[in-house]
Amino acid sequence: MIDNESLGVSGVKPSGARIKVRVPGTSANCGPGFDCLGLACSIYNDLELTLLKEPKLIVETTGEGADSIPTDDKNIVWRSIKMLLERTKNGAEYKGAVIKMENHIPMSRGLGSSAAAIVAGIKAANAIVGSPFNRQELLQLATDIEGHPDNVAPALMGGFTVSVVDRGRVQTLSFLPKLPMNFVLAVPDFPLPTWQARQGLPKEVPIKDAVFNISRASMMVAALIKGKDRFFKNVFDDAIHQPYRKDLIPGLKEAIDSARKAGAMGAALSGAGPSVIAFTVEKQHVANDIASAMTQAFAEKNVKAKSMILKLDTRGAHIV
Ligand code: HSE
Repeated sequence: MIDNESLGVSGVKPSGARIKVRVPGTSANCGPGFDCLGLACSIYNDLELTLLKEPKLIVETTGEGADSIPTDDKNIVWRSIKMLLERTKNGAEYKGAVIKMENHIPMSRGLGSSAAAIVAGIKAANAIVGSPFNRQELLQLATDIEGHPDNVAPALMGGFTVSVVDRGRVQTLSFLPKLPMNFVLAVPDFPLPTWQARQGLPKEVPIKDAVFNISRASMMVAALIKGKDRFFKNVFDDAIHQPYRKDLIPGLKEAIDSARKAGAMGAALSGAGPSVIAFTVEKQHVANDIASAMTQAFAEKNVKAKSMILKLDTRGAHIV
């Protein structure tokens, strides 16, 4: 059992190795690729992890979630670390941790903050215990913890990712597009937990909606790999999850439409929302116009949103 009394870091014996890991934020689905496509973007959480031989847990967070992230056994970074340690031979010697997080990824906004926490925890713990797990094994563990691979895969590997789960086994290919892209995010000021955004989804979808999505997701990947932006028209549209989520996000349709009008190739819910991500290959001033158009569209529905213009992260989680 972890002793969670509040101890200053100086009160802890340095009985374990320390490591620092940086993990990117992610945007899942990319419109039609529900639960299988994802991308890593240039916003980061840093974790400095010290594993301890004594049963103490100290969690210090600055930035996003500093006031709300659990500092006890419920902490997702710690739970992920424990799951990794339980699967290793020499993991048993570590019974506690000092977890210092510097978070920039907004929480519960569809930008992969929980995936980043999971990946940060297992990547750092794995390095401390001598890297017994390769990247594929870390991907599997992260997917088992998160429940789906579309955020943990790009968080771990960087780039755009395509993931397939077959009887619980996950496979992911990461690739870099031949086009330099900007991702314009409009991030509403309210959180939307993924479980809530999944509650209203149907158990089955009509075949025409399935074909709508399959064709667009496939075309998106082909066009990205070949660098053919003229094939991007409509590839970011979706028929199997966004229509069922629209009532949870006032202004969703208007933000997507306004992004297109301002010059985006397309736009979609980022992950389970509530953020909207727009895709553009144009210059910075077009990205700025798209950002203003989306925040204005949300404002007209009484939703306060902030904007961010991000690039693709090509590295994924790494030791710093
Ligand atoms: N594919 C997931 C969803 C992403 O849309 O529910 C959430 O992390």
